Amino acid sequence: MYTTILTNLENGIFTITINRPDKLNALNSGVFADLNKALDEVYQNDAIRSVIITGAGPKAFVAGADISEFNQLSKADSMTLSKAGQDTFFRIENSPKPIVACVNGFALGGGCELAMSCHFRIASENARFGQPEVNLGLIPGYGGTQRLVQLIGKGRALELLMSAGMIDAATALSYGLVNYVVTAENLLAKATEILTIINSKAPIAVAKCIEAANAVFDETKDGYNTEVKAFADSFDTEDRIEGATAFLEKRKAIFSGK
Ligand code: COA
Repeated sequence: MYTTILTNLENGIFTITINRPDKLNALNSGVFADLNKALDEVYQNDAIRSVIITGAGPKAFVAGADISEFNQLSKADSMTLSKAGQDTFFRIENSPKPIVACVNGFALGGGCELAMSCHFRIASENARFGQPEVNLGLIPGYGGTQRLVQLIGKGRALELLMSAGMIDAATALSYGLVNYVVTAENLLAKATEILTIINSKAPIAVAKCIEAANAVFDETKDGYNTEVKAFADSFDTEDRIEGATAFLEKRKAIFSGK
């Protein structure tokens, strides 16, 4: 079904592995097509409760957009490419199900942008982050100029963007770009541990957390109004009644997702 990614669904956690290790998992048009198909599954399959995105092999998460596809593109093509990449990553950012990036090596250019579109990031000790597009006479085109500023602040972001500098996992942790740094062997286990906890919570409430937090950075929305609406939407669920009842009955809530 897929040619450039691997997928696996276990205990409600859907793992998407970008699988072009010989090219350091660079994002070519095939990867984008597969990623969009996998996101269709994420949105449509009720058995999927949360998602991990990672890269195949020991060296790279994703080393960027596939540079070998660049030279044949016109300016109009480059706008289409940028817009399509942004749209794919908006689907990740706006997914009602949590999506975590497990960054297992280089996350450069489009790879850093992919990781930043996820709801949070966990890095292995050998992870490296950067936006080296200026080396190619380019800037990031898949949301990187926006999300890097959101996540690490304008001064640090502009230094990285303009210098093409790379930061290691410890620096990424100190910048707040990643939530945890763990050994490569523990990377997926750490994500699984956190997602298992999140998967035990009320799914609509979890989705509404994402929606409300995303509104902070969406100038078409009023975040506080979004929160009021999301609060009311979560209030009006069977799971909210179950959560309150279980608390009062001193038992663990069993959520149905309704
Ligand atoms: N696009 C296309 N191919 C890429 C790629 C990319 N973004 N990144 C790596 N590759 C390919 C290399 O061309 C090489 O292919 P080959 O074996 O057929 O020659 C293979 O992946 C391995 O990469 P290599 O450069 O030999 O590994 P390295 O360990 O010496 O260097 C990097 C690793 C990440 C520093 C280096 O690959 C790099 O700088 N990549 C580009 C990063 C970038 O600019 N990304 C932003 C793109 S907009």
